[in-house]
Amino acid sequence: MELKNRPRRLRKTAVLRKMVRETRIDKSSLAYPLFVTEGNNVKEEISSLPGQYRYSVDRMEEKLTELMDAGVSSVLLFGIPAHKDEVGSGAYARDGIVQRAFRQAEKSCPDLYLIGDVCMCEYTSHGHCGVLRGKEVDNDKTLELLAETALSQVQAGADMVAPSDMMDGRVAAIRNKLDAHGYEETPVMSYAVKFASSFYGPFREAASSAPLFGDRKSYQMDYHNRREALKEALLDVKEGADIVMVKPAMAYGDLIREVKDHTNVPVAAYSVSGEYAMAKAAARAGWIDEAGVMCEMAVSAFRAGTDIYITYFAKELAKCIDQGIIG
Ligand code: PBG
Repeated sequence: MELKNRPRRLRKTAVLRKMVRETRIDKSSLAYPLFVTEGNNVKEEISSLPGQYRYSVDRMEEKLTELMDAGVSSVLLFGIPAHKDEVGSGAYARDGIVQRAFRQAEKSCPDLYLIGDVCMCEYTSHGHCGVLRGKEVDNDKTLELLAETALSQVQAGADMVAPSDMMDGRVAAIRNKLDAHGYEETPVMSYAVKFASSFYGPFREAASSAPLFGDRKSYQMDYHNRREALKEALLDVKEGADIVMVKPAMAYGDLIREVKDHTNVPVAAYSVSGEYAMAKAAARAGWIDEAGVMCEMAVSAFRAGTDIYITYFAKELAKCIDQGIIG
């Protein structure tokens, strides 16, 4: 049969398939989100995220070492405080939970790259990502507290800060604060394109950070919007963001690509708790192959253009890369 174009020619052997592979993944692009909690000798499984645990500061090292041994060199730390209040004071306390975690992590694993999630929802009694005026989140009042939070994390040992609150102007507020205290060299990775998403459900259980009333739609983005995603990303770059993130990852590949094509900074994608939980649940029911789905999810984010992939599967993905299953 006369058929000049035969795409199957390049799929004949594993060597050839790998030779022509378009997307290359490296372990150095992976970051792992870790929850740190109060108390001693705590390692408790998060029921909504099977295989994920909350660690107390004194137990955290075992997880950090495990990650480093697997070749994952970067973690994103979340603190879960014992007490919450109206103004989220635990977020910027000098001896707050995440600040103590940074001090300990810096001491026990100096080679690990430590990123701080900067937000108030884990620390406020009402569960919103900023301080309230009536039932509204007060944008401008929140900025100073976010800047204080970022500064306290950097002073405690964070190598990078990642604001996830979605207040307007927070990248500039954080940048100015860090610069004024001599931390000009500390990068800001902004959760620039962050949607009001049902995919965060399991995280909110993990961090007990669900809002007590209302939702986050007045600050997180409406997921119907693509041009607005670009507006957010460009604004954050203008304010001094060194890296911009798209979140969630799995249902938002088009926006990872959009942001990648229209900015000149590295792009991150956060494969959030709901993505992980769905893969775990379906695998447990015997309906999907967990490792296979995990690999496809990761590769799709890189194919879409992400440079950094934040995932609860970081360690398992590192193993797949070592084994040559992806990469
Ligand atoms: C804090 C924050 C959230 C996540 C990351 N930072 C929760 C939220 O915005 O409600 C979600 C991460 C995940 O679902 O894995 N604002």
